[in-house]
Amino acid sequence: MMTEGAVHFLRRGTIVAHQVPNPVQTVLDYLRLEEKSRGTKEGCNEGDCGACTIAIGALKNGALVCAPANACILLMGQLEGKELISVDDLASGGSLHPVQQAMVDLHGSQCGFCTPGIVMSLFTLFHSGETPTRQSIEDALAGNLCRCTGYRPIIDAAFMVLHGTLVDHFSKRRHETIAVLQNLRSRGDVFAGDARSFIAVPKSEASLSKLADEHKDAIIVSGATDVGLWITKQMRVLPKLIFTHGVESLHAVKDHGDHLTIGAAATYAEAEEALASLHADVGEVIRRIGSTQVRASGTIGGNIANGSPIGDMPPLLIALGAILILKSVNGERSMPLEDYFLAYGKQDRRPGELVWAIEVPKLQANERFCAFKVSKRLDQDISAVMAAYKFEIRERRILSARIAYGGMAATPKRAGHTEAALANVSLDEAASWQSVIARLSRDYQPISDMRASAEYRLTVAQNLLRKALLETAGETSMRVLALA
Ligand code: FES
Ligand code: FES
Repeated sequence: MMTEGAVHFLRRGTIVAHQVPNPVQTVLDYLRLEEKSRGTKEGCNEGDCGACTIAIGALKNGALVCAPANACILLMGQLEGKELISVDDLASGGSLHPVQQAMVDLHGSQCGFCTPGIVMSLFTLFHSGETPTRQSIEDALAGNLCRCTGYRPIIDAAFMVLHGTLVDHFSKRRHETIAVLQNLRSRGDVFAGDARSFIAVPKSEASLSKLADEHKDAIIVSGATDVGLWITKQMRVLPKLIFTHGVESLHAVKDHGDHLTIGAAATYAEAEEALASLHADVGEVIRRIGSTQVRASGTIGGNIANGSPIGDMPPLLIALGAILILKSVNGERSMPLEDYFLAYGKQDRRPGELVWAIEVPKLQANERFCAFKVSKRLDQDISAVMAAYKFEIRERRILSARIAYGGMAATPKRAGHTEAALANVSLDEAASWQSVIARLSRDYQPISDMRASAEYRLTVAQNLLRKALLETAGETSMRVLALA
């Protein structure tokens, strides 16, 4: 195993070997304070506003993929083997990049804080290879908050520039970039620092397991979309970081016919297509998790591993009947996902053990599924309540139910009493549903916080169950619900 004491990444055509001075150094700090490339702005410093949006080039199945990222919560270790592109790099030979020019021509540039991030989001769309639609442009911009309500000219600029053959100085040197990134990929494990303070980017499953076993007190980092906030908002000192992104096999998303397996390091973006194929509601929930920037970095495995009671994926996966696979140097074990969440902040993960993969069963012909996210904003917001339901149906009666909610308890949790009461309920006797729906108050005693009151949460949870039953009975097709 070759070990490199520095993070290597591609920057402006040159490989940078960066000796990380501090394990928690963010890419935003590197750009602004060390490299002094100050086009990239700092707004919220928590992955919400998009002012710090950069582009990350990486290889995916041999092709070059250009994804947006929030530099404020992206750690330097995550650059290993990637290309870093900032807004300062876009203009070339004295001319603006086509995206920048379109923003100028259509008066899309307003304040100096949001515009660089907006340009970078459109730049990644420019390189996505997709024909843009109103929806894809809005999705790309959902993580770039503008407080002066000026999106219309920005969307106009996007439509103007994103058509036909899209060429810029990055696409012209695509083959060269791929060759360099392939070369970087063949480097061995990275371990920068010493036994007391380090970042490690293992490149194989064996190296990852061994490191996690040797450093049981290290923080395991996947996308850093949560860990990043521990650093920028909680000012936590995290001396030992082990990154999972360098293990290529952990990004795998496999279809086994009757179920999917999602590797723990697969990002939302990498897993979205396969998961969305399970049911339209799964796709819609994923589309509303964070922003394009967050979904390009954040992982399904990370959302589970950190055990947030308001994570969007666990309730959905629990209702689907997902199995969690954990691994360590001592072997592998698996459990129904709901069993992993023991109490607030406490998960069934042993020291040195890693969340390894998630197996998600596909829906059977006699199963119906619904999932709803309720949040104050439609996009880029944390759930007040996240609900997911799977009903097994025979002759218009519910044989069995799996119901899981987020935001209703200290962990993502199944509704055992309500599930039991749903057995044999007829989809044609709505009058019999009310007593079943009322059972939710036995399953959950939610708390009040800044997102919602306890009463509101319980009422919403009950209303969503009614909506799920109505949809299953075929009486409504409304899919998206957001608070006014
Ligand atoms: Fe707001 Fe990074 S500064 S997302
Ligand atoms: Fe900055 Fe609108 S562009 S507030």
